[in-house]
Amino acid sequence: MQVSSLQHVIFERIQQMGPLSFADYMRMALYEPGYGYYVTGEAKMGWEGDYYTSTDIADFFAHCMGRQLKKMWKQLGQPVRLGVLEQGAGRGDLARQIHDWANAHEPALAAALDYRRTDIKTGQDALVTTDDTFAPTIILSNELVDAFPVHVVEKQGDTLYEVAVTIVNGRLAEMLVEPDNTTLSDYLDGFKVPWRTFADGWRAEINLDALTWMERTSQLLLGPNLKRRRHGFILVIDYGDIARKLYSNERHHGTLSCYYKHQLTDRPLVRPGEQDITAHVNFTALMQTARQQGLRLHSLTTQRQWLLDNGINEELELIRQRDFSAIDTDRASNQGQTALLQWYNLRQRVSALTDPMGMGNFKVLIMKR
Ligand SMILES: C[S@@+](CC[C@H](N)C(=O)[O-])C[C@H]1O[C@@H](n2cnc3c(N)ncnc32)[C@H](O)[C@@H]1O
Repeated sequence: MQVSSLQHVIFERIQQMGPLSFADYMRMALYEPGYGYYVTGEAKMGWEGDYYTSTDIADFFAHCMGRQLKKMWKQLGQPVRLGVLEQGAGRGDLARQIHDWANAHEPALAAALDYRRTDIKTGQDALVTTDDTFAPTIILSNELVDAFPVHVVEKQGDTLYEVAVTIVNGRLAEMLVEPDNTTLSDYLDGFKVPWRTFADGWRAEINLDALTWMERTSQLLLGPNLKRRRHGFILVIDYGDIARKLYSNERHHGTLSCYYKHQLTDRPLVRPGEQDITAHVNFTALMQTARQQGLRLHSLTTQRQWLLDNGINEELELIRQRDFSAIDTDRASNQGQTALLQWYNLRQRVSALTDPMGMGNFKVLIMKR
């Protein structure tokens, strides 16, 4: 068996310190300096990478986000400067597409927009945001939180075991350990998850970093002055659900997924550092943490509904009138036929973004202050 350099580092760590919790393993696989999936090599998203996101599918996603930013800007009284921070921004495609859209259609918003983006790839970890020289009024992220390392638990009898990673016969392998504290069972109990009644073998992921992230992100939004908290919004898009649906008896195997060259696999211990590992996000946990920091719920909806609410159909119609008029006037010509095919392709992309069984089922959470 070929052993990659990151595997060597993981082997050494296990030999020195004993089995790693799955969360520590995932942290190494994704973030180990010099080796981890997110911190090395080329950006992995897009058609040539391991996965694609809504931004890769069509500019419409960014147009709807632009419309959303405009609504928020209005609600805030149209300040002369609208500081937007996008965390986990990848290659910056969303930022670029929003700017293009605003410059073309909303010049006043474009003039106010002070849009910054960060990513772990360029050294800015969303979990350790401390930059208070930039005061964002809106903090947004798309598919960031699902990347944070998760603890994996398995129910057997009355016990909630934690999945750990060890070495068996020269390979990485799972083992169950009994946690020496109640943090993970307290987490599930806190959301009233009746895990003790679930079938043995039930698994779930627990994203403790998501709590830390929401706490820090809320504080970044509110600012350091406790007496004069800033107003603004936090917008989170990701796959996931409310706790009651995420942690159900039916979801027996949990939601951990790996992506390697657009293939979905369920083998997180192979190819550490070369494949993406993600888990669905507990949106109840994000809401609860933000509330504890003094934010209120603005909305929680599906990506499908959010896109509809933010004008995806109007955007589609505008483009049809602007770029595809040949479909109506000259359908029989070569030009008309090409326009028709391109139009179908665009419609297909919008369907992918709004598909209730796919990306349309992502959740969009907006918290406000
Ligand atoms: C699935 S991609 C999404 C990229 C982009 N938001 C989009 O919609 O196309 C996840 C991004 O989050 C970044 N990322 C992962 N963990 C991060 C962290 N702890 N802090 C900042 N960025 C992170 C990755 O480098 C990657 O660019």
